[in-house]
Amino acid sequence: MDRRSAFAGGDQQYLRDVQYGTGAKLDARSYLHRTYATSAVPLAQFEAALIDWSGIRTALECGCGTGRFWDNDALSRSLSITLTDLSPGMVDEATHRVRELGFAGVVSEVCDVQALPFDDDAFDVVIANHMLYHVPDPDRAVAELARVVGRDGVVLVATNGHGHMREVNEAVAEVFGSHAEGLYEVFGIDTGEARLRERFERVVWHAFDNDLLVDDPAAVVAYGLSFPPGESATDAQRERFTQAVARRFEGGRLRIHTRAGVFVCSRPRRSP
Ligand SMILES: C[S@@+](CC[C@H](N)C(=O)[O-])C[C@H]1O[C@@H](n2cnc3c(N)ncnc32)[C@H](O)[C@@H]1O
Repeated sequence: MDRRSAFAGGDQQYLRDVQYGTGAKLDARSYLHRTYATSAVPLAQFEAALIDWSGIRTALECGCGTGRFWDNDALSRSLSITLTDLSPGMVDEATHRVRELGFAGVVSEVCDVQALPFDDDAFDVVIANHMLYHVPDPDRAVAELARVVGRDGVVLVATNGHGHMREVNEAVAEVFGSHAEGLYEVFGIDTGEARLRERFERVVWHAFDNDLLVDDPAAVVAYGLSFPPGESATDAQRERFTQAVARRFEGGRLRIHTRAGVFVCSRPRRSP
C-alpha cells in the first residue's frame, strides 16, 4: 500500500489523542453492535469460548480499548490480567471497568503493541482484537505477540474484512465520497492470516455469524460519524448523512451485514 490513512496506522498521534483519546467514539460503534446484534452472544464471548481457559493464569490484552472483552461471567475472576493500549485514556477506562467486573489481579500499561515491555513467554493467552489494522508495522506487532506468549499458549486476534458494515459504508461513501478503507489491506480477514502464519505454526479462522437489525437511525448516524471522514463532517454533511441513513431504512428497520471473526494462533515461531 502507498501512504496509509491516519485511521489505518498512518498517524499514531491521531489514533492516541483524537480517535481513541477517550472511549466515546469506540463506544458509539460498540453500542450499535451490543444493542442490535442478531447473534445470541457478543463476539467477545464467542471468541472466549474458542479456547480452554482451565490452565490459563496470565492474560495480556493489547489495544484493550474500553476493556469490554472481560465482561464475561464465564471467565475466572482469579485470572491475572495485563491491559495495554497506545492511549492512556483507554488504559484508564479499561482498568476501571475490568476491576469493577470483579477481576482482582489487574495491572495496566500504556504501550505500543509493536514494542511490548514484557519478557519472552510471559503470558498464557494474548489478545489483540480489532487493533492490528491501526498499526504502522503489523508484522512487527505480530512478532511481538508471538514473542510474549508462552510456547504452549494461545493468541486470539479478532478482526473484520471487506464487506463489514456494508450498508453504513455505502451511506458514508455516498456523502463523503470515500470511506476509511485501507484498514483491511493492513490487517483484515483476507490479509491477516498470511501475516500470522509467519509467526505461528497453527492459525485457525472462526467466522462470527452475525448481522445487525437496527430500528434507530440515530445510532447508525453516530456510528458513521465516529471515524474518518465522517468524524470531521460539516453541519451540511451531517445533515446529508442523516438523510442517506434514513433512506436505507425500510419499514423502520435496517439490516446491516457484518463480516468478522477470530484467528486462534498457537505454536509461536520465534524467528520467521
Ligand atoms: C477499534 S479499538 C478496539 C478495542 C478493543 N480491543 C475492542 O475490540 O473493543 C482499537 C484500540 O487499539 C488501540 N491501538 C491502536 N494502535 C495501537 C498500538 N500500536 N498499540 C497498542 N494499541 C493500539 C487504540 O487506542 C484502541 O483502543
